[in-house]
Amino acid sequence: MRLMIKTDYSGMSEWVAHYVVQKINNHKAETDKPFVLGLPTGSTPLGTYKALIRYCNSGNVSFNNVITFNMDEYVGIPKNHSQSYHTFMWDNLFSKIDIEPENVNILDGNAPDLVKECEDYEHKINAYGGIDLFLGGIGSDGHIAFNEPGSSLSSRTRLKTLNNKTVMDNARFFDEDTSQVPTVALTVGVGTILDANEVLLLVSGHSKALALRHIIEEPINHMWTGSALQLHKKAIIVCDDDATHELRVGTVRYFKELEELNSVQEI
Ligand code: GLP
Repeated sequence: MRLMIKTDYSGMSEWVAHYVVQKINNHKAETDKPFVLGLPTGSTPLGTYKALIRYCNSGNVSFNNVITFNMDEYVGIPKNHSQSYHTFMWDNLFSKIDIEPENVNILDGNAPDLVKECEDYEHKINAYGGIDLFLGGIGSDGHIAFNEPGSSLSSRTRLKTLNNKTVMDNARFFDEDTSQVPTVALTVGVGTILDANEVLLLVSGHSKALALRHIIEEPINHMWTGSALQLHKKAIIVCDDDATHELRVGTVRYFKELEELNSVQEI
């Protein structure tokens, strides 16, 4: 696993956006096949999305041959609800870049058959040959997508009940009213994420510091589902300094030194 530590949120966001742009452009130079990009919601990726929009508008990247699959969606609120992940993605990214609407895939939390909706999502990902790069964030309890603590580390796309901590964390988007926060969601599984060719997690702020420690320094554990990334052949975590506060000084130095060596080799 690679841990990239940037000074602040802005540095983290810019680094990730630049990385995504390079991936899309390199892929385009090699093949006509679409680039398949997994995407998260949440406040953490917003800076990355802003930078991607900037890169797209300045002609440095095009999303016209990019297929996206979002990680998750709430069940129980309409698609056009201000806090649905559909609305979030269209408002914060898709409506501002040159992506074809039919290339956007987001789970439908209002589908008549939610189990089938999840199965179809897995089939569609496979039909495209899998996900090239899955971007993600983490919850303060270390969950990825909506794979709450205790989720199977081989789970696939499915319905998931959200725990109290996640509901409380997400109440900030629902006027701080926990009773308005959906308690069920559709989410890709940990196994679905691990199947991607590459996984990149963004981790920002003190509130994620304990989770980052469990993901980086502690053994793989279903109570911190992000720790499953230790099994992935190509996982990168990009964080800011604030998120490293629970890591050992030696761990921070170790990964910073590795990245310094990497950048020297890249020159
Ligand atoms: C929700 C989403 C996750 C996201 C997490 C953190 O639980 N399902 O995909 O990583 O929130 O969100 P934020 O970035 O706002 O802290």
